[in-house]
Amino acid sequence: MKRKAPSVALIGTGRMAYHLGHALLRAGVELKGLCGRDQGKVDALAAELGCMPYLLPRVPGADLLLLAVSDDAVRTVARQLPKGGHVVAHCSGAQGHAILGRAPHRGVLWPIKSLSPGKPADLSRVPLVVDANDEQARTVLLDVARSISGKVVEMPLEKRRTVHLAAVLASNFPVFLLREAGRLLEQEGLSPELLTPLWKAMSAKVAEVGPEQALTGPARRGDLDTIKRHLERLEEEGDLRRAYALLSELILKAYHPRKRGITDL
Ligand SMILES: NC(=O)c1ccc[n+]([C@@H]2O[C@H](COP(=O)([O-])OP(=O)(O)OC[C@H]3O[C@@H](n4cnc5c(N)ncnc54)[C@H](OP(=O)(O)O)[C@@H]3O)[C@@H](O)[C@H]2O)c1
Repeated sequence: MKRKAPSVALIGTGRMAYHLGHALLRAGVELKGLCGRDQGKVDALAAELGCMPYLLPRVPGADLLLLAVSDDAVRTVARQLPKGGHVVAHCSGAQGHAILGRAPHRGVLWPIKSLSPGKPADLSRVPLVVDANDEQARTVLLDVARSISGKVVEMPLEKRRTVHLAAVLASNFPVFLLREAGRLLEQEGLSPELLTPLWKAMSAKVAEVGPEQALTGPARRGDLDTIKRHLERLEEEGDLRRAYALLSELILKAYHPRKRGITDL
């Protein structure tokens, strides 16, 4: 006999709750309710997802209570949850399931994706990482995850922490550098949009041929004079200058280990 798909109560009203809520809705998962601490936000997102709003600590009964709250709030919110036979899980790549306290069936459901404001993200090909403390939690989380995405992987905490660190390097830092690059252009009265084609083409190229082949630029070529001129231009930008120098040094070490270090420039 086919097992009934687990129902979910989603807790949180931020970015993850918004995108995950829509993904659950699209997957046909039964959403028992949307819970949060701010009545206005709860009402708005619940209405969008077509489910009942609940002001914490009120939470509806469901097979899975899924916490999409800030990492720092997971422990506090988990303490407020009712006890029962349900599974409790959070969405953080950086935390284990022990943070969920004494919930007997607990785990993690972590999408390896950066979720920011905008239209609901398509999670159907996004890797969803699952980790659980027992068989019940594992079964429920795998069921829910597989209904959302075709790429579900199980991963224990230590490996997840490594993936999380790698995701920050691969996703957060380049975006911040793009912001800083745009800021430099704006200082000169130039539009940051000048960089958009470059950025789009570069991410497509990396996806096509991998970072090893896609990397270009003065440090990759070993052009120390150009690096020196860039560092001179960054004289007034102490922190960014240090970041530029260190990143260039890392690239030179990787591709031109015999070249003189730029700390001398
Ligand atoms: N966004 C991403 O790219 C992403 C990717 C992968 C994993 N995650 C994980 O997803 C989880 C949620 O992140 P997010 O990006 O959705 O963060 P977010 O947009 O900042 O939303 C955080 C949510 O937590 C709620 N919250 C904070 N403290 C609370 C408390 N003490 N009691 C009740 N609710 C509280 C906030 O409520 P208020 O609005 O009322 O303050 C808000 O609904 C985190 O574990 C994060 O690591 C995020």
